[in-house]
Amino acid sequence: MSGPEWRRTHTCGELDLGAVGQFVRLNGWVHVRRDLGGIYFVDLRDRYGLTQLVLEESLTDAVRLSAEDVVMVEGTVRERTAKNPELPTGEIEIEVTKLEILSKAETPPMEVAAVDVPSVETRLRYRFLDLRRAPMQRSIAHRAKLISAIRRGFDGEGFLDIETPILTKATPEGARDYLVPSRVHPGSFYALPQSPQIFKQILMCSGFDKYYQVARCFRDEDLRADRQPDFTQLDMEMSFVEEEDVFAVWERVLVQVFHDVMGVELPAQFPRLTWLEAMERFGTDKPDTRFGMEIQNVDAWAGDSDFQVFRGTIERGDTVRALVVAGGADLSRKVVDGLAEFVRPFGAKGLAWWKWTAEGGAGPLARFTEGAAGDALRAALGMREGDLALFVADTVPVARRALGELRLHLAKLREVPRTGWNFLWITAFPMFEYDEESGRYVSSHHPFTAPASWDLAEADHATLASRAYDLVLNGWEMGSGSIRIHRTDVQRRVFDLLGIGPEEQEAKFGFLLEALRYGAPPHGGFALGLDRIAALTAGLDNIRDVIAFPKTATAADLMCGAPAPVTSQQLRDVHVQLAPDALERLRGADESA
Ligand code: AMO
Ligand code: AMP
Repeated sequence: MSGPEWRRTHTCGELDLGAVGQFVRLNGWVHVRRDLGGIYFVDLRDRYGLTQLVLEESLTDAVRLSAEDVVMVEGTVRERTAKNPELPTGEIEIEVTKLEILSKAETPPMEVAAVDVPSVETRLRYRFLDLRRAPMQRSIAHRAKLISAIRRGFDGEGFLDIETPILTKATPEGARDYLVPSRVHPGSFYALPQSPQIFKQILMCSGFDKYYQVARCFRDEDLRADRQPDFTQLDMEMSFVEEEDVFAVWERVLVQVFHDVMGVELPAQFPRLTWLEAMERFGTDKPDTRFGMEIQNVDAWAGDSDFQVFRGTIERGDTVRALVVAGGADLSRKVVDGLAEFVRPFGAKGLAWWKWTAEGGAGPLARFTEGAAGDALRAALGMREGDLALFVADTVPVARRALGELRLHLAKLREVPRTGWNFLWITAFPMFEYDEESGRYVSSHHPFTAPASWDLAEADHATLASRAYDLVLNGWEMGSGSIRIHRTDVQRRVFDLLGIGPEEQEAKFGFLLEALRYGAPPHGGFALGLDRIAALTAGLDNIRDVIAFPKTATAADLMCGAPAPVTSQQLRDVHVQLAPDALERLRGADESA
């Protein structure tokens, strides 16, 4: 053995029967200690695993050992009498002859070895302890392997890893900016990047052809399970390409990554679906295609129906859409009523239903589906005996949304098998969407996205298609990208259509417009949400669990206490004065502390 007296010869995850009789030294944390009258059994933990130690009472310090102490032990590997088949090291134990406590731990505020998971607040407040728990060790390691494999993929494809600034100017991606006041330029602020979008386009103008970066992005927006204010993208951009070229690179990289990291064989090509088709069949732009139960259009039948709710809807120019739940006739009246309640928050005014069983049809529609009308409806929906059909009659957006949500709800309720990894490209998103809040059209992706046609003379906000695409995995939006505008005239026109006047264009994006003027290649790219793909592939439904130091739903770091007040001197240095309400809040917080 070499090195300092306490340095380990092995990790806590590697010794087995082959090492019996060997003299070893281990380092690690006391996971649990069991006292068996004069003998102590300790599970020693590090990130590689657990190893059982046997300590005689006569060993100095053995009696003082408590959970989370960091120790050095020396001893001999021996075969266990009571083996633990669940652990790779479960056939051996260490007969300890020397023990040294390298660092004594106070009683921890959360028990690392506990089976019950502590509250989220406790876990985030004491993240250094939470991260010691086996599931967190696994998910953080999984994330690292995933990112490393993706990097290898892009390196292999000839992409250059180029960093872009964190202290920069606003890049609009639809959220609020985080601002940093400048000390040297009184009254001026940097914005943290919502994405490296503009810089990567400028790198294309500079001839860097194929760029990628593991990029930190910052967005001040409402947080959810799949959103953090500070998150990471695998951001990339390529020159002289169209949609299919971008898709092909990602398909090659992801096929290899899933093979290397998870042993999963993905298809060489992922299916492509236009935005319109996705909305029509699944009621969402991020469909989970691991099961069927697609939305069906029954306008033709409804228009001829005697059911006034349906016929009236068609006469108004709206639509009637349906889901068929295979074998759903067994659902009780109470459950079906519950489904009607479920769709209400999505704007649906009702949920008509129709069961088809050996006894015939049942439900509010039964009266209108006798004889030929019923046969026609069953044929239109492809219904079989024992099925249940659910209908929403409403505007197209409401019918799509309500049934799209209901489809997912039913899959959970009915425990429809959903396995596998269904990647899917969604293409041809609309160029603009109407924002109710501001009462104007905004970009569905971002303002640098190319329209489907370069000729914008006749462009209509409501119908113009774009060259934006998303990558969806099992119902989650994993990433987005687009072919970009490389022509100054078109970029200006798109800004015009967005209501961004010439002065604002110059002030905010002058540097991009300028770069486009001096020889810009056609280009396009994509950004994959690394937190999201790490979480989904680890089987987790909150990205917080694959981020070492995440923030709460109110964008706070409970461990380090960010955000935090600063001194008045610091504020003066950056020429910032607090508003009266902010001062009042701070005073209030002081008093309650
Ligand atoms: P977009 O804004 O769609 O596109 O972001 C790309 C992907 O980043 C992830 N993502 C997030 N992950 C965690 N927390 C968040 N708050 C968050 N916001 C976004 C998602 C999303 O699909 N510049 C463009 C890309 C491009 O056009 O190349 C962009 O940022 O997985
Ligand atoms: P009503 O005629 O209002 O008693 O409704 C008869 C049935 O039609 C009930 O099951 C309602 O849930 C359903 N229904 C009412 N409005 C709609 C609608 N817009 N879309 C689908 N079903 C509806």
